Amino acid sequence: MKTSLKDKKVLLGITGSVAAYKAPDLIKALKEEGASVSVVMTDASSHFVTPLTLEIASGGKVFRGLFDEPMAHIALAREADLMLLAPATANLIGKFASGIADDLLSTLLMAFRGTVIIAPAMNWRMYENPVLQKNLGYLKKSLGVVEVPPETGKLACGEEGMGRMASIEKIVEAAVDALGPQDLAGRKIVVTAGPTREYMDAVRFISNPSTGKMGYALARAARRRGAAVTLISGPTSLEPPHGVKFLKVETAAEMRDSVLKHLRGSHALIMAAAVGDFSPATRSKGKIDKSKVNTLKLKKAPDILKEIGSKRRKPLIVGFAAEAGENLKRAREKLREKGADFIVFNDITRKGSGFGAETNRVVVIDKKGSTEYPILSKDEVSEVILDRVAESWA
Ligand code: C5P
Repeated sequence: MKTSLKDKKVLLGITGSVAAYKAPDLIKALKEEGASVSVVMTDASSHFVTPLTLEIASGGKVFRGLFDEPMAHIALAREADLMLLAPATANLIGKFASGIADDLLSTLLMAFRGTVIIAPAMNWRMYENPVLQKNLGYLKKSLGVVEVPPETGKLACGEEGMGRMASIEKIVEAAVDALGPQDLAGRKIVVTAGPTREYMDAVRFISNPSTGKMGYALARAARRRGAAVTLISGPTSLEPPHGVKFLKVETAAEMRDSVLKHLRGSHALIMAAAVGDFSPATRSKGKIDKSKVNTLKLKKAPDILKEIGSKRRKPLIVGFAAEAGENLKRAREKLREKGADFIVFNDITRKGSGFGAETNRVVVIDKKGSTEYPILSKDEVSEVILDRVAESWA
């Protein structure tokens, strides 16, 4: 269970767009982040999703009519931490922008005082309509409403265009952004992730099985907590987290150059990348004839962490030590050798730890000692690491 929305009450307004059928998945995703979800639906939305389905998904009563429970519009508005309109129709956006309160949802919008997030979903002609755009512009600029814009793609009407409701992941991300702790606001953090490729010719390289999951999770978590994040990544198959500055590199040398370039003005460097330790001594332009190769000569790849850790003026540095076996002693030496403030040690031979796994079991080492953590998801490990970083700045 994630905790980004722990103890938060989300009031979800569902309106009559086809995308309403996605509401149960959205409720599930919000609950997985720890939120409790109350649902208010318009009459039109019940053509696309049934109240019973939403009742089962949310585990609570689904509110529909303004007069079903006389003071529901005030009680619900008072209790909620966030109002989320997903999917939001042109009609609801128009009513909200004009102050019309003729059903429970639009009345709640008049009574609610917190952050409102809107995820529009409609045909592209309606989305591009200047009246809709004027209404949206007013809500965003004057009332601080957050829009999670629709995506471009095939629409329910069969046409292609901008109007499909944003992914559930993006909507939940916006909710977390609006409600999560912002203890890293004002901090600039550079995170590296993924493997590097050390080429011997145009098509062959030495690499490792890093998937980048740990670094991407760290980048996402740091951004959620308010930091300005630069993610420098070797080749992975992951989607870059929303809202981070994303730079793709391939080799250790390219990663080094990119880190040095983007480190200026940064408060922390988190080196989660599995940077290659060796690269072929030479890189041939074409493809080497295999009959002519018996041995491969290697040279040391640049040790990015060590280079930055040995500088006089340096940001806070977090390094990783993936060791085969319980080599805590070696990890402790790395703290000193690399000039790091924290080393995150994990034994890649242990179950649920290491390359490609969804989880990790880490020991965080600093000058004062070491703290062992239980097996955690990579998102949770990210929070633990960022807690330590935030504490050291407190
Ligand atoms: O020396 P070792 O590879 O075990 O150190 C791991 C830490 O050093 C990781 O944080 C990794 O990102 C970083 N590293 C580096 N440059 C290398 C190799 C590792 O910055 N060439």
